[in-house]
Amino acid sequence: MMRVVFVGDVFGQPGRRVLGAQLPGLRQRADFAIVNMENAAGGFGVHRDAADSALAAGADCLTLGNHAWHHKDIYALLGDELKYPIVRPLNLSDPGAPGVGWRTFDVKTATGTERLTVVNLLGRVFMEAVANPFRAIDDLLERGDLGAVFVDMHAEATSEKQALAWHLDGRVAAVIGTHTHVPTADTRILPGGTAFQADAGFTGPHDSVIGSEVGGPVQKFLTERPHRFGVAAGRAELNAVFVQIEAGKAVGVERYRYVEE
Ligand SMILES: [Fe+2]
Ligand SMILES: [Fe+2]
Repeated sequence: MMRVVFVGDVFGQPGRRVLGAQLPGLRQRADFAIVNMENAAGGFGVHRDAADSALAAGADCLTLGNHAWHHKDIYALLGDELKYPIVRPLNLSDPGAPGVGWRTFDVKTATGTERLTVVNLLGRVFMEAVANPFRAIDDLLERGDLGAVFVDMHAEATSEKQALAWHLDGRVAAVIGTHTHVPTADTRILPGGTAFQADAGFTGPHDSVIGSEVGGPVQKFLTERPHRFGVAAGRAELNAVFVQIEAGKAVGVERYRYVEE
C-alpha cells in the first residue's frame, strides 16, 4: 500500500510559511508528497526559493497550473529536472513547451517500492484555451508502464472535474482538483477505484479572497473596474488530500484542513 499526500495551491509567502511548518509532519504520514506550487511566487508561478523550500520540507513532486509560466525562474527549474521534480500541465498545444506533463517515480513504501506517475492537467471551461485534457490523458494512459496514476486536474468548473474523474474511473488512482482555492466536501472513491475531490483547496492566507487581500477583489466587483490585488497577510490555511493506493486503485481517501491560530 502506498500513501500519497497532495497539498493544494501554495499561495505567496503565507502559503510557503505554512507549508514549511506543516509539510514535514504530513510527509511522515505518507510515502510521497505532491504539492501544487502554481501560486507560490506572490500568487503567480513559482520561483527557485519557493521550490527549494518545498523540497526541503518534504515535497517529492511539484505540480503547476495556469500560472505555470508567470515567474521566469520556471524555465531554469524545468531545465534542471534531476534537482526539480516538477510536472507542468500536460495538455499544452505547443509540442515544444519546456518541461514534462507527467513523471514516473519509484516510491519507497513500508513493504517495498511502488511505481507512481503524477500528471498535471488544465481544464478548459472558463479558462484559457489549451488542448483537450480528456484526450491528452487517454493518450498517456496507452502507455503500460505508469504504475498508479495520480492526476492533479487544475480547472475552474466542478462539472469538468467530475466528468474527468468518471471518464478515468478505474484507470487512475486519483483525480484531485486544484485552482479554485476552495476545498470541496465531495471526497470519495468512485466505483472503479478512483479517488476524487473536485478541489483540494489552497495553502495560503486564510483571511483573503482566494489568496488576495480582500480590498482589491471587493472593489473590482463593486465598481466593475480593475484594482490592484496583493497577497493577503496574516494567518494561513493548508488544505490537502491523503490517498491510499493499492495495485493502482484508491483504497482510502481523506480530506485534510489546517488553519493557523
Ligand atoms: Fe491556484
Ligand atoms: Fe490556477
